[in-house]
Amino acid sequence: MSNLIIPKHIAIIMDGNGRWAKRRGLPRNAGHKAGINAIEKTIEGALNISVKYLTFFAFSTENWKRSQDEIDGIFDLIRLYLKNNPNKFQNLGVQIKHIGEISPFPDDLKHQLLKTEKETEKNNKIVITFALNYGGHDEIVRAVNKIIKSGKKEIQYFDIQQNLDTNFLPEPDLIIRTSGEERLSNFMMLQIAYSELYFPKVYWPDFDGKKLLKAIKIYSKRERRFGGITQ
Ligand code: IPE
Ligand code: IPE
Ligand code: MG
Repeated sequence: MSNLIIPKHIAIIMDGNGRWAKRRGLPRNAGHKAGINAIEKTIEGALNISVKYLTFFAFSTENWKRSQDEIDGIFDLIRLYLKNNPNKFQNLGVQIKHIGEISPFPDDLKHQLLKTEKETEKNNKIVITFALNYGGHDEIVRAVNKIIKSGKKEIQYFDIQQNLDTNFLPEPDLIIRTSGEERLSNFMMLQIAYSELYFPKVYWPDFDGKKLLKAIKIYSKRERRFGGITQ
């Protein structure tokens, strides 16, 4: 444990819910349900080692291609998760945030999300961000359109950064994508410029605090150079 370097911001591409369910002969939504338990365990694990920012990719701008039944199931699970946990969020000091364009979501889900964000805004042990209808390309386009509206004729990278959904977050130190797929699927295209990437084989529903710790052990052995040289 002595050489453990705790990343300030860990962002997770939760993948493999469908395959986890299929392997058990269960419907895909059973995999998503089990995925919620994995989120809870991972948050507890992160709190134990004082990770400050933890982000979960929960629904991408491309996930609308799935069946309405699966999409509705995912929305129900997110709504229920937020609705069932207000005391837990307060007791653990969890602040809930989102990134992504939530306007196409059902009103009751949007309402629940904004309510939870308001209720938890003063909590400061950990910031849990859910990426919902989030896509890196969509986020960049919305950021650039905001800059155009502001009337600016010339910009710095800082201006883009300030207009991204992630403007309240430090850049991720570590990206974890479960299920063995080694791709980013339009997640945080700009913010991960210098993130460390880790692709464990485990399907998301089997992820937990112990697996998070393993990821951090691997991260701790990486040498981040940011374009400089080894000391
Ligand atoms: C990730 O699991 C959850 C979401 C994308 C919402 P998948 O549903 O993509 O699971 P696989 O990739 O089909 O196994
Ligand atoms: C990425 O997983 C999106 C989320 C985890 C929400 P997908 O399962 O949608 O990605 P692809 O289609 O395999 O690239
Ligand atoms: Mg997938």
